[in-house]
Amino acid sequence: MSRSAHPAGPRHADVLPEGHYSGPPADLNTLDAKVWAQTVARDAEGTVTVGGVDVKTLAEQHGTPAYILDEADFRARARAWRGAFGADADVFYAGKAFLSRAVVRWLHEEGLNLDVCSGGELATALSAGMPADRIAFHGNNKSKDEIRRAIEAGVGRIVLDSFQEIVRVAHIAQELGKRQRVQIRITVGVEAHTHEFIATAHEDQKFGIPLAGGQAAEAVRRALRLDWLEVIGIHSHIGSQIFDMSGFEVAAHRVVGLLKDIRDEHGVELPEIDLGGGLGIAYTSDDDPREPHEIAKALTEIVTRECEAARLRTPRISVEPGRAIVGPTAFTLYEVGTIKPLDGLRTYVSVDGGMSDNIRTALYDAEYSVALVSRTSDAEPMLARVVGKHCESGDIVVKDAFLPSDLAPGDLIAVPATGAYCRSMASNYNHVLRPPVVAVNDGESRVIVRRETEDDLLRLDVG
Ligand code: LLP
Repeated sequence: MSRSAHPAGPRHADVLPEGHYSGPPADLNTLDAKVWAQTVARDAEGTVTVGGVDVKTLAEQHGTPAYILDEADFRARARAWRGAFGADADVFYAGKAFLSRAVVRWLHEEGLNLDVCSGGELATALSAGMPADRIAFHGNNKSKDEIRRAIEAGVGRIVLDSFQEIVRVAHIAQELGKRQRVQIRITVGVEAHTHEFIATAHEDQKFGIPLAGGQAAEAVRRALRLDWLEVIGIHSHIGSQIFDMSGFEVAAHRVVGLLKDIRDEHGVELPEIDLGGGLGIAYTSDDDPREPHEIAKALTEIVTRECEAARLRTPRISVEPGRAIVGPTAFTLYEVGTIKPLDGLRTYVSVDGGMSDNIRTALYDAEYSVALVSRTSDAEPMLARVVGKHCESGDIVVKDAFLPSDLAPGDLIAVPATGAYCRSMASNYNHVLRPPVVAVNDGESRVIVRRETEDDLLRLDVG
């Protein structure tokens, strides 16, 4: 099909159907630095490059779809978080956002710690050489086997999430003859301004022990009685993709309030607090995320102030950013397969992946940006919906976005800010193979997670 052989979709704001878009950007060829990885640029021919490698070469060498990860950007963001919090605090990267052995090595080298929440994540971390004492183990229903493996490995902390777990971890620690450092995860009763499925500090949900009604204080009481547990602090994670700092401030205030009550009741000043992760990133040009140094300053100030008022020694603070480190560092590279213009509505652009490589749009109504990356175009903008190849009409990658109206099959398009919760939440729906993660740096590309093959799928199918 030639570039002009299909009619363009609707073009003007006054005919746009209902949606989340704010109108076409002034220039579709410009890549907003806010949503793209740091080294992304266009070369002299107009092809997008990242880490000095152009996307056509990446597509030829690694195929599409593929997650393309900018290693320099990842390291820079990890360093920025580490630097912002300084030597008196710890940064635990949340592995659930995206974890692979290469990522573990980068984190280790950049001085970060790691939060894992399953046996699989723990195994990945240990196999890539993360020292166990720099690992925190999370989860609302850790299995006995997972707890045993974590204690045996010598993880730096287990974050206790329920009354049952206090006893369970203590028993296993006793069996193994190893006193285990623990934090207690509480819910502080904050309604974070984010999607319901990723808000975690209000009481009506599965994580943590409520502060309300004295439950958190009771959990601390029980844990302090158990010799095989060394209670080192309180943990609070209020949710994810949050821009407003006020929720963190309320959480810090309430956690310090609990530390004060613990001191008053038990004469013990717990030495650590963890304020979780959750800082939002820019998925579209409308999002304005905070920088790590602003976040560090705000959190450190509030904790210090509250502790001074309560006459407590300021505890060591830790945080667990996942998305804010890895999210912006990767984009998903797709090839356009089919294009279906619907007059007065929008143009459907089908790519070679979909909800199996990015479930966030279907699950959270997440918004994404998209750009034509294999060339530039001066054609008029058309309202597009980027969809996948799955047997489901909800298989939407980008709900509403503008692409050039001369878009054609074979063009490469990319969806930025897919480093977090895309590969880690990928599925095999329709037996579509999960894409590789390709790291680029200094003019070189390297597969860090290879593409799934049909053999991989068939290996599991033993019936
Ligand atoms: N710490 C704890 C205890 C967590 O549960 C999480 C995320 C984090 C840290 C990291 O949060 P982050 O900084 O990445 O926002 N799948 C959802 C996000 C789920 C977050 C789960 N917990 C999404 O795609 O938006």
